[in-house]
Amino acid sequence: MTHRNILPVLLAALISLPATAQSLQIPKPSPGLMPNPAAGKSLFVKNCASCHGQDLKGTDKGPPFLHRVYEPSHHADAAFQLEVKNGARAHHWRFGDMLPVQGLSPDDVAHITAYVRMQQRIAGIR
Ligand code: HEC
Repeated sequence: MTHRNILPVLLAALISLPATAQSLQIPKPSPGLMPNPAAGKSLFVKNCASCHGQDLKGTDKGPPFLHRVYEPSHHADAAFQLEVKNGARAHHWRFGDMLPVQGLSPDDVAHITAYVRMQQRIAGIR
């Protein structure tokens, strides 16, 4: 490689550095987003229900959300962002680890969280 060719490579490496640091941060929904439980419901059904259950009561592959462990005071909304992005190590249950869920934006996850919170309120979990 000549020196002329190495500059773009160096630049690209420098530019990708902040992106690496960012992946350790909590993904943030767009400023001003109004999380919408109805939008969250269809995203949940598509991406989460196979393990967490259509009715949020869990399956043999994942835990229920209508459970004291997930009351908002114990599991903040940021936990949803982190878990979807990075997965979750098995700790509360015996289902094994949760793998990261691909293809969801932080806005999508905010909608899903709003849906889960709404269902939790209906079930009397606060
Ligand atoms: C392939 C199965 C699977 C899918 C799909 C899945 N999860 Fe999970 N999830 C799990 C398992 C298993 C756990 C339990 C990890 C543990 O033991 O705490 C879990 C735990 C969680 C937790 C709690 C982790 C903790 O800190 O206790 C959150 C929040 C969560 N999932 C959100 C989601 C959301 C939101 C989606 C959809 C975008 C989703 N999951 C899709 C399997 C799944």
